[in-house]
Amino acid sequence: MLAPNKTVVRIARHDDINAISALITFYAELGNLLPRSIDEISQNLEHFLVATVEGEIAACASFELFTPILGEIRSLMVSSDYQRQGIASNLIKHLIDRAQNMKVKQVMALTYIPKLFHQHGFRTVDKSIFPEKVWGICVNCYKFNNCDEIAVLLEL
Ligand SMILES: CC(C)(COP(=O)(O)OP(=O)(O)OC[C@H]1O[C@@H](n2cnc3c(N)ncnc32)[C@H](O)[C@@H]1OP(=O)(O)O)[C@@H](O)C(=O)NCCC(=O)NCCS
Repeated sequence: MLAPNKTVVRIARHDDINAISALITFYAELGNLLPRSIDEISQNLEHFLVATVEGEIAACASFELFTPILGEIRSLMVSSDYQRQGIASNLIKHLIDRAQNMKVKQVMALTYIPKLFHQHGFRTVDKSIFPEKVWGICVNCYKFNNCDEIAVLLEL
C-alpha cells in the first residue's frame, strides 16, 4: 500500500490555507469531521502537512499538542479523487515521525475508521482518558452528547 510516486508530502504553507479550508469544509458538511475556520487553520498552519499530486493539494492532516507529552492527529482527510491509494497512511507515518522528533510520548486521534490507525500501531481506548480533548475541544462540538467517534492511542 504505497502512496503513488507522484505524491509529495510537505509542511503546509500560507498559500495552502484556502485549499485546506475547502477540504475541511467539504468533509465537515458531510459530518465526517469538525469544521475549522480560516483563522484556526492559519493559527495552526505550522502543525499541518499536506500531500500534493502534481502540485495540487490532495490531502492534509495536522499534529497538535495538548500537553508536552500528548498530541492529536487532527483534520486528516484525502480528496475523494485520491482515496484508497495509501495517502492517509503516508501522512500518518509522517506525523508519527514528527511526534517522535518532538519527544512526544502519546499520539491520539478520534476517528470513524480505527482500522486505518490500527495499521500504524494505535489501539482503541476510551475517550474519557483524554480530558484535554473532551473538555477542551469536544465540549464545543454539536455531537458532544452523542459522539460516535472512536478514540485511538499510540504510545511512543
Ligand atoms: C479516512 C480517509 C482519511 C482515508 O484516506 P485514504 O488515503 O483513502 O486511506 P489509505 O489509502 O491510507 O487507507 C489505508 C487503509 O485504511 C483502511 N481504510 C481507509 N479508508 C477506509 C474506509 N473508508 N473504510 C474502511 N477502511 C478504510 C483500509 O484498510 C485501507 O487499506 P486498503 O485500501 O488496502 O483496504 C479518507 O477516506 C477521507 O478523507 N475520508 C473523509 C474525511 C474523514 O473521514 N476524515 C477523518 C479520518 S480520521
